[in-house]
Amino acid sequence: MKKVKVLFVCLGNICRSPLGAAIMKKRVRDLNLADFIEVDSCGTSNYHIGDGADPRTIANARKNGVAIEHCARQLTAEDLDRFDYIFAMDKSNYQNIMRLANGRPVDNKVMLLREFDPKGRGEVPDPYYGDERLFQEVFDIVNRSVDAFLDHIRKDLTTA
Ligand code: 4NP
Repeated sequence: MKKVKVLFVCLGNICRSPLGAAIMKKRVRDLNLADFIEVDSCGTSNYHIGDGADPRTIANARKNGVAIEHCARQLTAEDLDRFDYIFAMDKSNYQNIMRLANGRPVDNKVMLLREFDPKGRGEVPDPYYGDERLFQEVFDIVNRSVDAFLDHIRKDLTTA
């Protein structure tokens, strides 16, 4: 069976995208959908390759019931072929992804994660220089966007 492959992308791959991947993996496990969905994350930059997630992201996620196990990596051109849904956290990530795509037909698989946010479109703010309040805001945005995305694809998964 072909799995739906979902990639979360941010700048450093230590705050937002590891969080998105961890939340989605937990939901996928809880819904018994692990046979149908593969989840990963990466960054457009090389700043933190090999690093774990930011300790503030790990602590905030844990507070919200989500464990993060992660090792940062950089987005590659191969990712653009391999994944079915590629979620950029902000417009700058989106532009970096499109630059790497360099003409590949990826327009219909690359999107802003908040396209699925039921409370409104826009960007997932970069929490790197922010405080705990911003980390919590990021959690809430990513959490409800991932939930809405899962609702969107779920019915197609088990009926295909
Ligand atoms: P992320 O956050 O893109 O959500 O992982 C950032 C992490 C590191 C940096 C910027 C944003 N940095 O400049 O090192």
